[in-house]
Amino acid sequence: MKIVMVASESRPLCKTGGLADVVYSLGKELANANEDVSVIIPYYGSIKTDATFMRTLKLKMAWRTPNADIFVTKIEGMTFYLVKNDQYFNRGHLYGDFDDGERFAFFTLAAKAVMEQFDTAPDIVHIHDWQAGMLPCLIKEDKSSKFFSKTKFVGTIHNPAFQGLFHKIVLGDLYNLPDSLYENGQVRFKDQVSTLKSMIVYSDKITTVSPTHHLELLTDEGSMGLNYVLKFREDDFVGILNGIDYLEFNPKEDKNINTPFSATNLIKGKKANKLALLNQFNLKNENLPIYSIVSRITWQKGFDLVFPAVELLVNKGANVILLGSGESAYEAKWEELRAKYPEHIGIYIGYNDPLAHKIYAGSDFFLMPSLFEPCGLGQMIAQRYGTLPIVRRTGGLKDSVINYDGTNEETSNGFGFDDYSEYEMNRTCLYALETYKKKTLLHKLSKNAFNTDNSWVKSKNEYMKVYLSLIERK
Ligand code: GLC
Repeated sequence: MKIVMVASESRPLCKTGGLADVVYSLGKELANANEDVSVIIPYYGSIKTDATFMRTLKLKMAWRTPNADIFVTKIEGMTFYLVKNDQYFNRGHLYGDFDDGERFAFFTLAAKAVMEQFDTAPDIVHIHDWQAGMLPCLIKEDKSSKFFSKTKFVGTIHNPAFQGLFHKIVLGDLYNLPDSLYENGQVRFKDQVSTLKSMIVYSDKITTVSPTHHLELLTDEGSMGLNYVLKFREDDFVGILNGIDYLEFNPKEDKNINTPFSATNLIKGKKANKLALLNQFNLKNENLPIYSIVSRITWQKGFDLVFPAVELLVNKGANVILLGSGESAYEAKWEELRAKYPEHIGIYIGYNDPLAHKIYAGSDFFLMPSLFEPCGLGQMIAQRYGTLPIVRRTGGLKDSVINYDGTNEETSNGFGFDDYSEYEMNRTCLYALETYKKKTLLHKLSKNAFNTDNSWVKSKNEYMKVYLSLIERK
């Protein structure tokens, strides 16, 4: 099967969030199963690669005629096509510019043009999030060519908060599409054009990244208005839980951590990594549990609940470590807390993969009280290293963490609470602190977490089912 992923980021070339992990790991898994997989992404200035120049495509974007220089490289059995245009993508960052609408319209037009260079059209074009959300619409509305007549489209929603909302002028002025698509409602959402809505309307199947988030997206609460669109597509809409990359996150052979470990020396191995981690952050008391966070520092991730809980935990006897970067007010608050409790709080503001591995391996608990979380990968990575996640049970967090409730020590692999409230967060964090004192129980839960299967195999098979169901469809 010929599958093309179109996304705004993919590891190992560029990453701001879980999207990049998913595009890469899913693609790799499919390629390992002998599918023909390509990935199309922008060639950002920050990308380091030895990709070779293929050709320049001359695009038409209303009155503009931008060039797309296409570079190609093979990674892990996949063919990566990089779309280069320095005016749009050499900015020192991936998103957040006033002209993001124009930048990603250009990318969408380029992705279509790249595929038109292929000998045969893809069987499946799989689009991720809003950035190339107009692609199925562009192709299906283009009646001038039959090239894509057999191609099917899958659109995945990773984050419903980003809806690709732009003034309706973008239809004609960027996408060469008629205003009638706005007038008839096909791409209209909240009185603007939404590229995400367009993806939902024009894709043959829509997926999101966990079964629980699938349900959430069909309700008023938690769908950010998308439920009104998605309910028309309910029959073609499914939730598939992401996996994590079992080669990248492999406690047995992880070169980033102090002491690699397996099921047989889990407890000892974790202890050694904990000592190394305390040392690295200059924290002293090894008898206290470490609660950690590795995250983009943004409102979505529940930092309003984290700050009071951190103070409470430190006062009750715990260490806390944070790695991440993001909103400056939250970053400042972390600096403040560290200054107040230098022996108990360690922070690293920034992005640092090797350090993240050390934190996953050396912590006892991993905090993830998200306000919403379509899937979440951190909790699964934590489990892989025998670290117990403490989560708010929303989206994929609900699907991947079995709360310890005092009776289910055979199956539980973390802690969870439902209400987004300080009270529930504090209660759950303190319950974990009590559990920490019961070493046999703690070790059992840690083993359960370690043994949880979060690999991509299951998820890849689910995606294959989706693709195959479309190919069988006339
Ligand atoms: C987005 C979501 C996150 C999910 C990731 C990958 O970043 O917020 O929950 O894990 O996409 O699908």
